[in-house]
Order: sequence, then structure tokens, then C-alpha cells
Amino acid sequence: MDQNSLQNDVIDVCLRRGIVFPTAEIYNSYAGFYEYGPVGVKLRENLMVLWQQTFINSEDNVHEISGSTIMPEAVFDASGHLDGFHDPLTQCNKCNSMFRIDHLIEELGLEILDENSFNEQLKNNEIICPNCPGVLSEPRNFNMMFKTNVGPLEGNTGYLRPETAQNIFINFRRIAHSMRASLPFGVAQIGRAYRNEISPRNFLMRLREFEQLELEMFVDPDEINNHPNWVEVENIEINLLTRQNQLKNEKPIKITIKEAFDTKLIPNQYIGYYLALETMFMESIGISNNLFHFRELKENEVAHYSSANYDLEIVFPFGVFEVIGLAYRTDYDLKKHSEKSGAKLQINQPGKGNIVPHVIEPSAGLSRLIYAVMLSSYVYGEPNSDRDWNWFNFTGAMAPWEAAILPLMKKDGMSEGAKELYWQLKDYGLEVIYDESGKIGKRYARNDEIGVKYCITYDYDSLEKDLITIRDRDTMHQVQIKIDLLPDLIRQLILDILTWSDLENEFGRFK
Ligand code: GLY
Repeated sequence: MDQNSLQNDVIDVCLRRGIVFPTAEIYNSYAGFYEYGPVGVKLRENLMVLWQQTFINSEDNVHEISGSTIMPEAVFDASGHLDGFHDPLTQCNKCNSMFRIDHLIEELGLEILDENSFNEQLKNNEIICPNCPGVLSEPRNFNMMFKTNVGPLEGNTGYLRPETAQNIFINFRRIAHSMRASLPFGVAQIGRAYRNEISPRNFLMRLREFEQLELEMFVDPDEINNHPNWVEVENIEINLLTRQNQLKNEKPIKITIKEAFDTKLIPNQYIGYYLALETMFMESIGISNNLFHFRELKENEVAHYSSANYDLEIVFPFGVFEVIGLAYRTDYDLKKHSEKSGAKLQINQPGKGNIVPHVIEPSAGLSRLIYAVMLSSYVYGEPNSDRDWNWFNFTGAMAPWEAAILPLMKKDGMSEGAKELYWQLKDYGLEVIYDESGKIGKRYARNDEIGVKYCITYDYDSLEKDLITIRDRDTMHQVQIKIDLLPDLIRQLILDILTWSDLENEFGRFK
């Protein structure tokens, strides 16, 4: 299969089938802004729920907040974003196009050195404007935050947050007190963040407005190698690409979390724990761990607040996509905000008094993950076969709808019967969609194309004998069952309590 066409085909389905659209498409869209359509919203909700299940609901000490996206300049002065959150920019003296220098260097297959050498790299490699023969300017730093003015009076400078994390740090005292939290505890947030990227690219991978799923885990630094649930994750295997591996151009190593910790390839148990949780989360959205690795970032790649970073990278034939980061932020943020605001962002630790906890931060990009799920779930139909259309083989938990309810025809009361069944399943709490227009084969194809897991056909047997057929998207096999069994069986299939072959074994394949 042509891998470039995979990306184009997925983008095409996204636009045609209401998954995502460019913002302000009927005017001149700015690059890097997309909106979720009716199908995309379902994928987004599913992904958020799965993230909440892994990082919040399966723990008893993680709280969730939802904060403002515009904050005063003082917040980002303290956090270091005002001074340190920039990308290196160069401009062509002929056509005025602007470029991120590290991207230009990377696209030429050269190694990206630190930002002080960008000018030298431009000159030594005689890099010119990729759009015309123009000369490129000396590098300058471009701050990536969107700036605004709050209220009518000039001078109240605000910024759209470049990460959700800062709301959590500045609210640390209130959250800890209101939840009577003691260390270790976590605060999570799902929300929008904004970065004025110089050159947004790769569809949903690099956006200017995007959603983050972040968790700040606060830990006593003396307990950082004593995670209470360590034994539950220590045998999980990951693919790890250390700095050493990268220096020697080696492939990632397969290693258990325990071995990585014991051999000091990772800095502490909490990092190990979240490498394991990220692996489990990826599996819950349908991306198995042979498709990705964790790359330890090199010194010049680590953000200003971080002492160690592991990026979860998915390797596609057309490129490597970073979809989740894991940072060891230490006490950097709480200390900076304490210094600048005068608030004591500390917590009492029995026997020690007030201490500033350390922070471990798993941070995921929602649209990136959805794009990655789509790319890894896209299946091509076989020309001249029973299925000559393309489809998404999403897991039950990711599928936009669990089932589509289809009357075989509109006549003889089939529409009415199917509609009644549709409402019954909705009332039961299932995610179902109703579809009655066009031939039944076309409707199967239409629902496969967006990854709906089951098609339920209401036909003459339904009218006359209370029987209904369920069609499995992946095998295209069908079974016929009594209508009153349907709600519970669909639920069991979606929750993986029952497999499709269990169902076929019990009821026989319907032909
Ligand atoms: N909070 C981590 C990040 O935005 O990358």
C-alpha cells in the first residue's frame, strides 16, 4: 500500500464524513485550526473517557479540574513561558516567507544542534529559501504564545495558555486543601491550549489550537522510588529508545519497566509507572505496543521546566509522530510560582513539615491521538470482493457508534419498528445511530467507513417473528437472535465480555 495515499485517504474521509473540518473553511482558513464534526466529536468523547479511565478513575488519589484558558502575564512570567517558550524563526529576504529553522535543518537530513548554532548551520550548509532563491535572515526567537488584552484598558496583558498544566500549579493550595489531599496525589485536566506555531503541519499533528489531556502527579521527592502500585506494572514490557541508543543509531530495546528502573535507564519509579500506564492507555484506544516506543529526549530537546522527558512516538512509514509526553518537572513550577506570587505552594508531609513536592507529568495531545488511531485503524477493501470499500476497524470503545439500526426497507412498518428499537437501545444507554436511506449494502458500507461496530437490520423476520440480525463490521458475518436479547448482547460485545465468535457459536452464523 502507498503510505502517502494512506494519509490522503484518511484526510479525505475526515472531510467527507464529518470527522474534522478546517476552521472558517468558507473564508480563508488559517493553517493549524480544525473543528470536530458530528463523527469526530464521538471519537473525541471516547478518547477522553478512555484517558480518564486510565489516569483518573482507576486511581483513588487523582482529582480533575477545568480551568480558564486566558491567564494574566504574571503566570507565564513565573512559569518561564514568557522568556523560554519560543521557536527559532528565519525569513526570506525575497518572498518574505517565514520558516522554523529546526524544521528546515531536519528536512535536509541534517542533525539539529542547539539553538545557538542555528545561524552557523544556516550559513555552513548554504541553506536558502525553499520557495525561491532568496537569502534567509539571521535566526530570531518567536514566542509561541497568543497575546491578548483583557478588558477595555490597555495594559492588562493576558495570554492564551500554551499548556493546561499551569492552572494546576497555581491552584495547588486550593485543590490540596479542598480535597484534603496528602502526597502522593494527582490533579488532571482536559482542556484547550494554544500555540502560535510558525508552520503548522501534518494535518492534526501540529495545531495552533488543540486539546491536552494532562496529569500533574505530586510526589514527596524522598518517595519517588516508592510507587505504591509498582508491583502491578513492573512486568509490563515497553520499547525504550535511550539517549545512548540514539547516539549509536540503534533501534529501541524491549525491556520491562522493572529492568529499565533497576538498570537506571529511567530516573525513578514514578516515570516507570507512567510509562506503563501510557502503554495500557494506548492499548485501550487500539494501538498495540509494537507500533510505538518511548524516546528519551536529548538534553537540547528537553523543555525549560523539565529534568527528563520520554516521548511516546508512533512509527509510521511516512514519519514518526509524538503523541504523548512524559516529563519530570521536579519542583520547578511550584517553586517559581511561590517565588513570584508570594503564595506558599507547599504541603504538609507528616514528620517533615511543609515541603514542595516534585511533579511527574504525563501529557497527551487529543487530536494527535485521534489522527494516530485513524491511521492505524484504516483498512483497504479488496476490489471486486464482498467488500470493495475502505473502513476503520476501531475498537468497540473507540467506535463513534456501537451500532447502526437499519430497517431493511422503509415499507410495511419496518421503519417504525426499527425506530422503536433505536429508541429502546438509546434508552438502554447504548450509542446507536439510525439510518434508513439507500440500499442496505450501501448502508453497511457507509457505517463501516466511519468504523461503526455493528449493523442491526430490522426485516420481515423482525416484524413477524421478533428476530433481528446483527452484522459484525470486522468479519461481515451475521447472527440472528430474539430482539429482546439484543441490548444486553451488544453491551457485552462492546465491553469485550463476549466475543463475536462466542456469539456465532451460540446462535450459529446467519446466511
Ligand atoms: N505540559 C506539557 C506540554 O505542554 O508539553
